[in-house]
Amino acid sequence: MQIIKVKNYQELSQKVAEIVKNHIQLKSNLVLGLPTGSTPILMYKLLVKMNKKGEINFSQVITFNLDEYFGLSANNIQSYHYFMDKNLFSKINIKKENIHLLDGKTKNPQTECDKYEQEINEAGGIDLQILSIGHNGHVAFNEPGSPFNSKTRLVNLDRETKINNGRYFDSAGKMPNQALTMGIATIMSAQEIILMATKNKKEIIEKTLKNMVTEQIPATILKQHPNCTLIIEQE
Ligand code: GLP
Repeated sequence: MQIIKVKNYQELSQKVAEIVKNHIQLKSNLVLGLPTGSTPILMYKLLVKMNKKGEINFSQVITFNLDEYFGLSANNIQSYHYFMDKNLFSKINIKKENIHLLDGKTKNPQTECDKYEQEINEAGGIDLQILSIGHNGHVAFNEPGSPFNSKTRLVNLDRETKINNGRYFDSAGKMPNQALTMGIATIMSAQEIILMATKNKKEIIEKTLKNMVTEQIPATILKQHPNCTLIIEQE
């Protein structure tokens, strides 16, 4: 794993936005894997700016989001659909049919997840996957204990995730207990991975780097990826 240290959140976001821009300039129909959460918000703002200035053209770009809460509809303001629309998709020149998100309202989670895997394959696989990390080492919603060979599936959320992400809901009780998520194997099959970490993730990043590769800390598997870069904000 390559490590790039940056001074602050602005620099972290700028760096990742530049990487996305460079990839799209090299491959206009880039297959891009995208995260949600607070970490990528500024990076999305910068991508919107670059798009408005004509520096990036998203018209051929294909996206796949990492995960979605199970039970939330696309227009629920807590859903990742809503988040992506608000922060990125509604503000750039991407084609609707090129955007892929898991349907949180699906009646058949397994069918929905299998279809997602198939769509990723049909797009030729993910070229560039942007990731952030949970305080418990989760990537997407692959919680500690997730099998390294897991594919896109329905999962139960960890207690810690419910506490951390519960802040976005009126009360933790309203937060779904389950989510649909790309699997560890799905993420690992991306050609290139960028892991973004803000300074509040210092502890889990240290654990990830120091520990052996273990399913108890899902992010440790990224150390085995041939082209993964951690970009970390240092105090
Ligand atoms: C959610 C997402 C994860 C993400 C995490 C980090 O749990 N499912 O993919 O890594 O948020 O969130 P934040 O960036 O807000 O710390």
